[in-house]
Amino acid sequence: MSNRAHSPPGLPVVGSVTKLARDPLRYLSGVQEAYGGQYPLVRLDPPGGQSVSVVLDASLVHDILADRDRFARPGTGADQQRRQGLLTSAGTLWEQQRSVLDPEFVGPRLSEYAEVAADTVETMLAGWPADGRIDLVSELSTMTMRVITRTLFSQDTTREQSRTVEEALSAVADEFEPDITDFLLPDRLQPGPSAAFEAANETLDTVARGFVDDHLEVEDPPQDMITALMEAKRDPAVDLSENELIDEAVLFMTAGQETTALTVTYAFHWLSTHPEARQRVADEARRTLDGDPPDWETLSELTYTEKVVRETLRLTPAAWNITRVTREPTTLAGVELPADEPLLLSTYAHHRDGRVWDAPETFDPDRWGETASRADDSYFPFGAGPRVCIGRQIALTEAQFALTHVLQQYSVETVPDSLSFQPGVTLRPEGAVRARVHERAPKSD
Ligand code: HEM
Repeated sequence: MSNRAHSPPGLPVVGSVTKLARDPLRYLSGVQEAYGGQYPLVRLDPPGGQSVSVVLDASLVHDILADRDRFARPGTGADQQRRQGLLTSAGTLWEQQRSVLDPEFVGPRLSEYAEVAADTVETMLAGWPADGRIDLVSELSTMTMRVITRTLFSQDTTREQSRTVEEALSAVADEFEPDITDFLLPDRLQPGPSAAFEAANETLDTVARGFVDDHLEVEDPPQDMITALMEAKRDPAVDLSENELIDEAVLFMTAGQETTALTVTYAFHWLSTHPEARQRVADEARRTLDGDPPDWETLSELTYTEKVVRETLRLTPAAWNITRVTREPTTLAGVELPADEPLLLSTYAHHRDGRVWDAPETFDPDRWGETASRADDSYFPFGAGPRVCIGRQIALTEAQFALTHVLQQYSVETVPDSLSFQPGVTLRPEGAVRARVHERAPKSD
C-alpha cells in the first residue's frame, strides 16, 4: 500500500494543519468520523512543514502503545527533559523506575490510599458552605494534590501550599510540555524557557526537596513511594540520583493532580446536566454508605457511580490526546513513515467514534453494562500497554469517593451548564467551573 492511500482525497492538507492547531478536538473527531473504518491512519504532510499521522484504527492504537522499541513518548530521554522520572524517562531507566514503583500501586497499598482519599474528601467538605457557590476546579485541585502528597510522600499540604504548587505546575505545563501546536511549529519558533518558567520550577524543586528531606532526616521513614525509591537507590544495579527523587515527586504531582481534578469536575458537570443520573448516584450513596464516609469495602458496591466515572472519562477524557513519535523510519499499517514522525492517538476522538458507540455524544452511564465492552479497544482514558497510567486505580477510587461522598451530603449544580474547552496537555475547561452547593438535611434515624 502506498502513502497516498492514507492521504484521502478531499483532505486539504495545508488547511487541515491549521484547523488541527486551532480546534484539535473538533478536527480530530471529524477525521475519525470521516475516515475511520476506511484508513488505519491519516497522514497530514504539509509542504515544508512537519508531517503528523492521526491514528484512526483502535487496534493499531494499542499496537503502537505496546511497542516501546519503535515508538517513544515524545520528550522522553535525558537530553530532552529537565526532569527525569517515570513520566519522562525511556529505556532501561524507565524499566527500573517502573519496576520499583509498580508495587506501590497494587494490593494493600490501594486500600490504604482509599482511606486517605475518603478522609481528604471529608476535609474538603468541612470547608464548604452549607449553601453557596464554590470554584469546583480549585476545590478539587486542592483535594487531588493532597491525596497525592499524603499517599505517596506521607506529607499533608495546606490549601495555600497546594495552591502554590498548582500555580507552579500550570506555569510549567503552559510553557513547556509538548502539545499539538508544538509539533506544528517549526523549531525556530518554539519559545525558550522564560523567567516565569524558571521561577515555577524552583518553587516545585523547593516543595519536593522538602518532601525528600523529611524522609532523609528520620531513621524509620514511612513506607511510601519516596522510601521505595530511596531503598532502590541502595541497589548498585539501580541508577538513581538524588535529584531524581525530587524530579519524581514533581512529576507525580504533574501527572496525577490536574487530570483527576478535571475528571471529577466533569463528572459533576455531567451529573448536573443529567439530574436523573445525579439522583441515582445520591441514592446509591445513601443506600451504601448510610451517612458514613466511603471505604475500600464499599467501593465495589458503588456500581452506578463507577459507571458515571467511566462515562465521564469517555466523553471528557482529561488526557484527551496521547502522542508517540517514531524512533526510526518505519512502516505502519503499510505506510512508510520517517523517523520523528508524531503520531496522534486521540482518546477524545476514539471515545466519540460513531461506528463504535451508540449515540456517542450522549452521556449515558448505563452503556457500561455488558454491551460497552465491545468498544474496549476504542476506550483508553489511561493509555495502554507498558506505559499505561500507574495511578489509574488511585484516580478512579478518588473520583468515585468524591462523587458519592459529596452527593450524599450536598446537592451540587455546576454553572455554566455547557462546557467549552481549552485543550492543552490536558482537557482544560475554558474559564472557571463553579458550582452552587446546598447541604442536604442530615438523615434522620
Ligand atoms: C483521571 C485521572 C488520570 C488520567 C486521565 C490519567 C491519564 C494517563 C495517561 C493517558 C497516561 C499514559 C500517557 C502515555 O502513554 O503517553 C498516564 C501515565 C501516567 N500517569 Fe496518569 N492519569 C490520571 C491520574 C494519575 C494519577 C492520580 C497519578 C499518580 C498518582 C498518575 C501518574 C501517572 C504516571 C507517573 C504516568 C507515566 C507512567 C509511565 O510512563 O510508566 N496519573 N496517565
